[in-house]
Amino acid sequence: MSQVLERPSPTQQYTISPLGAALGAEVVGLDLAQPVGAELIQLMKQALNQYGVLCFRKQNLTEQQQIAFSRLWGPLEDFPEENKTVAAPTVYNVANVSAEGEHLPDTDHRVIFQKVNALWHTDSSYRYVPAYASLLYGIEVMPAGAEGGRTGFSSMVAAYEALSPEMKARIEPLHMVHSYEHGRRVYGSLPPLSNFEKNAVPPVSQPLVRVHLDSGGRRSLYITANAGNEISGMPLEEGQALHAQLVDHIARPEFCYFHTWEKGDLVVWDNRTTLHKAEHYDMARYRRVFRRTTVAGKDPVFGPFSQAVKAAGY
Ligand code: OGA
Ligand code: MN
Repeated sequence: MSQVLERPSPTQQYTISPLGAALGAEVVGLDLAQPVGAELIQLMKQALNQYGVLCFRKQNLTEQQQIAFSRLWGPLEDFPEENKTVAAPTVYNVANVSAEGEHLPDTDHRVIFQKVNALWHTDSSYRYVPAYASLLYGIEVMPAGAEGGRTGFSSMVAAYEALSPEMKARIEPLHMVHSYEHGRRVYGSLPPLSNFEKNAVPPVSQPLVRVHLDSGGRRSLYITANAGNEISGMPLEEGQALHAQLVDHIARPEFCYFHTWEKGDLVVWDNRTTLHKAEHYDMARYRRVFRRTTVAGKDPVFGPFSQAVKAAGY
């Protein structure tokens, strides 16, 4: 069921069609290298609220064009680490290839960071104000028929709604610890964070249930597997077991859509209501190169007991 819509300015038609049952839609017919008006961005923000993930097909974007389009969604985040795979502070090379084009070995830190991305997560959840949206642009994608290398997405709205009433009640008051440094615990060969970096992104506590003030009090799960596994306010092992149970739950196929990349896809996702992960692939055999920009969030994560949520009457 596709919707055909008029592009306000300049006039150009595009279609939006769902990609997965729980989330995801593709937008066909727009050239994002051309000037994009504020009205169109408003429509795209509404579509992102509705679908969680939008794929703009057949783009041809330079780094500067991607930055310019991303800024229309809001101010961009800088990455917390220097000299990682960063060409500009707002651009993250999501790749097993260096910025100079060299296919990197498995042991290279830049490749290990890609492995951290293979755990379910939402970007920048380790920040006090986590990211609103990420824009990932496909430059070198897996050849047709090759195994793995897709990006998985999971709807945290659908996953929350499907929880039993008992589980909803159990997690209602809980928070989990989100820490940028967690990747170092998973992959001990990564270099330690500098003091500067530790101060920039200290661990934060985020509610497990997120309440969205701008969507009429809609609720979703808010969880990560790549930035922590501890739940506050209960014995450590009990919390880790609950965390593992929830991570199993969000991976259920009915909440998920796995995106098979085509070169020139620009995929935008809503970090407030979706999780994502990189699917494993043969990193020594295939080159996989993406470029990511990240739109900063406006508010901290509100839970059921946040003052702002009570004040809004949800
Ligand atoms: C990211 C990310 C997943 C992938 O860029 O934030 O998690 O499939 N990428 O590379
Ligand atoms: Mn990510």
